[in-house]
Amino acid sequence: MVFRQSCGVGPSLPPLSKACPSDMGRTLRAHFEGTPMKRTHLCGDLRVGHIDQTITLSGWVQNYRDHGGVVFIDLRDRTGITQVTFDPDLCGKEAHALAASARAEWVLQVTGVVKSRGDRTNPNIATGAIEVFAQELVVLNKAQTPPFEIDEHAKVGEEIRLQYRFLDLRRPETQRNLIMRHRATKVARDYFDLNGFLEIETPVLCKYTPGGARNYLVPSRVHQGQFYALAESPQLFKQLLMVGGYDRYVQIARCFRDEDLRQDRQPEFTQIDLEMSFIEMDDIMAIGEGLARDLWKKVLNIDLPSPFRRMTWAEGMAKYGSDKPDLRYGLEIVDLTDWAPTSGFSVFSNATAAGGIVRALNAKFGFEKGATDPTSKKTACEILSRRTLDDLTEYVKGFGAKGLAWIKIQGDPAVKENWQGPAAKNITDDARNELAKRLNVENGDVLFFGADRFKTVCAALGALRVELGTKRLKLTRPDQFEFLWLHSAPLFEYSDEHQAFVANHHPFTAPYAEHLDSLISDPGKVLSKSYDMVLNGNEIGGGSIRIHDAPTQSKVFTALGISDEDAQKKFGFLLHALSFGAPPHGGMAFGLDRLIMLMTGADSIRDVIAFPKNQKARDEMLDCPNPVAERQLKELALVVAAQTQG
Ligand code: AMO
Ligand code: AMP
Repeated sequence: MVFRQSCGVGPSLPPLSKACPSDMGRTLRAHFEGTPMKRTHLCGDLRVGHIDQTITLSGWVQNYRDHGGVVFIDLRDRTGITQVTFDPDLCGKEAHALAASARAEWVLQVTGVVKSRGDRTNPNIATGAIEVFAQELVVLNKAQTPPFEIDEHAKVGEEIRLQYRFLDLRRPETQRNLIMRHRATKVARDYFDLNGFLEIETPVLCKYTPGGARNYLVPSRVHQGQFYALAESPQLFKQLLMVGGYDRYVQIARCFRDEDLRQDRQPEFTQIDLEMSFIEMDDIMAIGEGLARDLWKKVLNIDLPSPFRRMTWAEGMAKYGSDKPDLRYGLEIVDLTDWAPTSGFSVFSNATAAGGIVRALNAKFGFEKGATDPTSKKTACEILSRRTLDDLTEYVKGFGAKGLAWIKIQGDPAVKENWQGPAAKNITDDARNELAKRLNVENGDVLFFGADRFKTVCAALGALRVELGTKRLKLTRPDQFEFLWLHSAPLFEYSDEHQAFVANHHPFTAPYAEHLDSLISDPGKVLSKSYDMVLNGNEIGGGSIRIHDAPTQSKVFTALGISDEDAQKKFGFLLHALSFGAPPHGGMAFGLDRLIMLMTGADSIRDVIAFPKNQKARDEMLDCPNPVAERQLKELALVVAAQTQG
């Protein structure tokens, strides 16, 4: 019997160069069998077929229990957990004492014999039918007491998890997410390779160009007072690659955007970015859809429908109040602008008189908290209490609405008194009868109304619809994947902040040829050859056909209020390149982090990124961003600016 106590460095894992999507564990094993580190199996490997074999495992202490004489240690690596039993009669007193001293997250190497657990089988783990009776124990490293248990069920605040990300990464759930990310990336690379795409890298240090997301700026030491911008996407480079003749480009690209963060946004994120020449919208959609189908089939073993549903931007806004409709539930929005002036309710008639619109949605059924059994369906009236309706009114105010008129139908809708709520008492009998028809009103329904400018009503009812569908009425199931292409968005969007038209997608997006004449005279009317892939209400990818001639590109810059001189200064390289025989081209980019978030069912993209920033764009583990020495600022000629600010 042997035991050693080693301090210092434990075994390092061999590279996963031959990683096989179907069995990561087998591949990992193939790389260490016969190496001096002596592992013969992984902690998730052992089954009844291994009984009586002598094996060696390495891993971390998940759990330890001292049952008066016999010590049990659950040993964990990224493939699973094995119970190791230290019986002093088998492993000797010293190894037993060493095992008894082991604590959570110590790193051990154990050699022993696999035995059946008989009727003590643990059905919750894959190795539950066996245990390893230790003969030898090597402590490869000790660990401080971790701030939280490495247990997938442990509820640990995100702040502490991110601060100790190296421990959080040991959690089975995080490991599952990152392994799925690896598989998805591999499937994507294979898919594009098979489809004739070339993977080409483009710079991260770029020229600042206005109009997109806010850029991170990098001061140049060599050219003092001048700055690079970190690429917000490879957009312009991939267009230049098309000019360069590299038809069918793809890149798994890091992008940097200094934006306000949300659950589905990071300052640094990854795109699967592609571009193709001599194509039209349908070709890019076919390639994008093929990727999604391949990913879902090869990673999740789910067959997706073909082709995906398609919808224009206008239809999305009209029926769902959104440019990324969640199609997992109905709750469609109905236009009542023509009905409003004679409705009898001043909130509605005033809105249309001011040039606005009135729209409504009818909430019918849902599930109360925790219930998804179809027989437990309740009417919206039963689920949405008066207090909930007040909460929802406050909720839509966060999206710019002035209020949220609602009507509850409690009883036969033909009876006037059964219509209750702030809007109910004012509307005329005719208006009520018309409403009953248009909204298919039945006993138990709750109607919600938005009356305001187009943009505000869409935002408010769109957000209300998602809140009702996903949270209040709970109409979604975890295994639902509702894909959609939303296409033909307006080329420009009027920005209240800038008091001007801005590019809806980016300024290189092609307008429909038949709208070219309106570029300057009526920019709000121009539709673009753009498309977004939407999944369950998330924009997972987007792209467009590009402008491939310099005169049209110049015209779009003019419509955006960019003077010729400015266009030359900022985008001269693009206009120049377009004038040298640019092929017709277009492309798209998938948000890889969002894709993986939806594939894994994670709540946030931070859960599928190894080292994410927190919601304040900070890395608390690295403690960054952080101040630098004055000497460094001087070197970059930033000292004056920094002092003035401070
Ligand atoms: P877009 O800006 O729509 O298009 O980005 C493409 C996709 O990237 C994802 N995404 C993000 N993911 C995480 N954090 C962020 N901050 C973030 N911002 C965007 C989204 C989005 O659909 N160059 C164009 C693409 C093209 O036209 O080909 C572009 O970057 O899932
Ligand atoms: P008020 O007349 O402001 O007391 O509002 C009467 C009802 O209409 C309340 O339930 C408000 O929430 C609702 N309401 C007010 N303004 C709007 C609006 N612009 N759109 C929809 N409902 C509104």
